[in-house]
Amino acid sequence: MAKNAVQSKSTRTLSLRDGPLFLGGATAAVLLFTLWYFSDPWTDFSNNPTNPVLASDCVTAAYCSSAAPDADELRHDSPNSTFYDDPGLGYSIEEPMEDWDEKRREWLENHPGYAGDRILLLTGSQPSPCSNPTGDHLFLRLFKNKVDYCRINGYDIFYSNAFLHPEMRAYWAKLPLIRAAMVAHPEAEWIWWVDSDAVFTDMEFKPPLRRYRDHNLIVHGWAHMVYEKKSWLGLNAGIFLIRNCQWSMDFMRLWASMGPMSPEFHKWGWLQKSALPDKMFRDSDDQSALIYLVLKGEKKWTDKIYIEGEYYFHGYWLDIVGTVDDVTERYVTIERGVRGLRRRHAEKMSGGYAALREQYLSAAGYGKGSWRRPFITHFTGCQHCNGEHDPKYESDSCWIGMVKALNFADNQVLRMYGFVRPDLSNASRLSVLPFDYPAAEEEDHW
Ligand SMILES: *[C@@H]1O[C@H](CO)[C@@H](O)[C@H](O)[C@H]1NC(C)=O
Ligand SMILES: *[C@@H]1O[C@H](CO)[C@@H](O)[C@H](O)[C@H]1NC(C)=O
Repeated sequence: MAKNAVQSKSTRTLSLRDGPLFLGGATAAVLLFTLWYFSDPWTDFSNNPTNPVLASDCVTAAYCSSAAPDADELRHDSPNSTFYDDPGLGYSIEEPMEDWDEKRREWLENHPGYAGDRILLLTGSQPSPCSNPTGDHLFLRLFKNKVDYCRINGYDIFYSNAFLHPEMRAYWAKLPLIRAAMVAHPEAEWIWWVDSDAVFTDMEFKPPLRRYRDHNLIVHGWAHMVYEKKSWLGLNAGIFLIRNCQWSMDFMRLWASMGPMSPEFHKWGWLQKSALPDKMFRDSDDQSALIYLVLKGEKKWTDKIYIEGEYYFHGYWLDIVGTVDDVTERYVTIERGVRGLRRRHAEKMSGGYAALREQYLSAAGYGKGSWRRPFITHFTGCQHCNGEHDPKYESDSCWIGMVKALNFADNQVLRMYGFVRPDLSNASRLSVLPFDYPAAEEEDHW
């Protein structure tokens, strides 16, 4: 592949041989963008009682008798026939899907315990070991981070280490995987693709799904970079939410038709290059393909794509890793003043504490320049698996940054297990958290 030609200037490699697969790649280091506040923030917490701390005491009879569906029962299939019984229906991205909305609706009617805005997070890596000696260790930590995030927030997660279509490798591999996952998870309203090299650095934040109710594909980007500059870095295709519906089935076939499984792969490379002036390499890639569709696609596609730029749905790691010590300090300061936030609690009860904390974050802002915990820190261009990071990054900055982000995120989890890493650059050092941490000293006598 045209690897060397690409690597010097781009933050993405086109090597299919090695490296973190599914690289979302694009960075937008130099971009400044306006921060807007949410118009309808915290929709996911909006159903929480106004006093979440008291609510999480939850010893009332009403709470205890609101019978959750029996877990075993939920795992028993309905005898009624569904799309799974149709021998003509396949999981491959090459097979068209018809009437998917109807098929999914029927399945849900037969499995009534599964209604709601469920999310399945998808991520993955290549089938073979990493060539960088610490690459697989980093993969493990990156995966653990996503598992923690999903467990805390009640999402399902699937990790793929297979190429479901032999031609669709590297950053194209996600499309066949999403196609199969939509069929395997009719209960999921949303599939959330997250590149392996992205770290959840706010374990409490949830995407504001209500904002996206009229859209089917949510991707991080900047409108002016896409529509005016026509930059291939205008959005990042390494993290996106896609609705499990017929529109998405059709859209993914269209998107995949610009990839290596298509006889028109090379034609698309040239078309993308001529449409996106700053794209330096010749091969068609998933991100340029998506921007091309956003710019030139039919209205039925573009109307349903939401470009999210108001918070770190994807955050460029170089903008973020230098800020996490300060952010840690800000949160500790808040907790010193709010006893409720210092209260020990079961991990399952985290949602109520997140809602309480939110009341003290109204001045924090979102995204670049804010002191809120950054939602997702994406190590684009770092290539931890083959170790061949973008040469524009200083020697160890990728690994130092990644370890710091992972420890920053993990501290939010470890806290509920009674421990903390006092030094974000050292994963081996662990301290026990005292009761009522981080109360001010004078309060200790209470
Ligand atoms: C499933 O099949 C049973 C028996 O034929 C029928 O009574 C029921 O309505 C069906 N359920 C759904 C959701 O179609
Ligand atoms: C990290 O912490 C461990 C355990 O406290 C310590 O032995 C080690 O020297 C530390 N490493 C660095 C680089 O500071």
